[in-house]
Amino acid sequence: MSDNPTVYLNGQYLPLDQAKISVLDRGFLFGDGIYEVIPAYAGRLFRLPEHIDRLEASLKSIRLISPHSREQWAGILEPLLEPGQDQYIYLQITRGVAPKRDHAFPEHIEPTVFAMCSPIVPLSDRDSGVKAITLDDTRWALCHIKAITLLANILLRQKAVDQGCTEAVLVKDGYVTEGAASNIFAVLDGILVTPPKGEEILPGITRDVILELAKINDIPYSEDIISLEALKTADEIWLTSSTREIIPVVELDSQPVSDGKPGPVWQKMHQLYQAFKKAQS
Ligand code: PDD
Repeated sequence: MSDNPTVYLNGQYLPLDQAKISVLDRGFLFGDGIYEVIPAYAGRLFRLPEHIDRLEASLKSIRLISPHSREQWAGILEPLLEPGQDQYIYLQITRGVAPKRDHAFPEHIEPTVFAMCSPIVPLSDRDSGVKAITLDDTRWALCHIKAITLLANILLRQKAVDQGCTEAVLVKDGYVTEGAASNIFAVLDGILVTPPKGEEILPGITRDVILELAKINDIPYSEDIISLEALKTADEIWLTSSTREIIPVVELDSQPVSDGKPGPVWQKMHQLYQAFKKAQS
């Protein structure tokens, strides 16, 4: 992919280095916006209707009227894809450019819509597993909104990286919520468990695919709370997201998870997920 790929900004396709927005954009001044990350395999968008559902839910939660119909979104994003490649679209919508900085919503402004496409590069240590640390979930109370306001997530992820880990597993009141930029699964007593949807986690699209695959392949699963104590004795821990797919955690807080190797349920789900992607593209 070129260093200066074509991006989409407010109705125009143009080279990245020519895409400019005003410093008065509320995304820049307040983080007043939402985003989506949509993977595309072999050049085809994966689970687009589900990503658009979540985009519309995020827009509604921040009281922004969707600037485009469901059909229009596909038409806007598809020209950014390169045929045959595994890529992801980053799509961001902010409340737009206001004449002055004021916290309250301005009237009569147009949302800013930006989209770009980047290659998906699998984590080099995906198949051998990664390290994670647990940290207090210091984010806000509306984590189900895919808000661009990611300062807490960034600080948490960086703390993990500073300690040689790939991800921070977040804990609120003794229970695991999700990763700094991923959902979490654990295998507990032979059952695949992930926390239920609610305002404390992002409703991950990868998470839903995994639950569907568990259901049709008779892998016992449940959407249930996971205590930090239970996580520490889990047989397997996984982190999931659109860009990294399903990552086994083999070390948590410097302790091995089981025997310190990716487990059999991950092996199976990883294969099922790859087959499902292939069948969709
Ligand atoms: N993040 N939880 C959080 C906090 C996330 O940021 C993400 C993904 C997920 C997984 O959602 P999905 O399976 O739909 O990708 C869960 C993206 C990839 C990002 O911010 O880049």
